[in-house]
Amino acid sequence: MKLALEVTAAVRAHWPKSKPLFFRMSVVDGIDVGWSIDESVVLAKELAKLGVDLIDCSSGGYNIEKKHILQRTLGFQVYLAEAIKQRAGVPVVTVGMITKAQQAEAILQGSQADLIAIGRTALHDPYWPRHAAEFFNYAEKFEQWPEQYGWWLDRWSKSLKRLPVERSKK
Ligand SMILES: Cc1cc2nc3c(=O)[nH]c(=O)nc-3n(C[C@H](O)[C@H](O)[C@H](O)COP(=O)(O)O)c2cc1C
Repeated sequence: MKLALEVTAAVRAHWPKSKPLFFRMSVVDGIDVGWSIDESVVLAKELAKLGVDLIDCSSGGYNIEKKHILQRTLGFQVYLAEAIKQRAGVPVVTVGMITKAQQAEAILQGSQADLIAIGRTALHDPYWPRHAAEFFNYAEKFEQWPEQYGWWLDRWSKSLKRLPVERSKK
């Protein structure tokens, strides 16, 4: 852990106290010999002592305990974030094949993670967070969209709502 702890201490010493410091960790890594959740729990506790506010729980894609490549199923790394959150008692972000708003919300409501990170989902839909807010009827008036077109989209959605519901022709 020496390098990780020394780098973290150096970064924290220069990064403003008022700003959060995240640490991305490969929670499980390596084949046969490697790095497991147990070691990551110890490291997470040490990092928290050094002022890390949140652990970003990634992995090398290999489950050392089960000796298999992590299947790229939806939320395939959530169990890693949950383990660090529960066992190290530090806030965590989970990442990896989180694609739907309901999926993200279920992870948060289930206290499996404190934050959700999206990579390719954001490449596919740069407005994913706004669409997630819409899905939960959180943002009615597009006030979270860039002002230039939030105003237009608000009128657009009102026009859409006024359209007669198309009856399926089947
Ligand atoms: C274009 C691209 C660049 C990435 N670069 C990095 C990187 O520099 N460091 C890293 O730890 N992960 C990197 N990742 C992995 C993502 O941070 C993320 O953990 C991974 O894509 C799984 O999340 P997703 O299923 O939402 O894409 C990258 C992913 C993509 C798609």
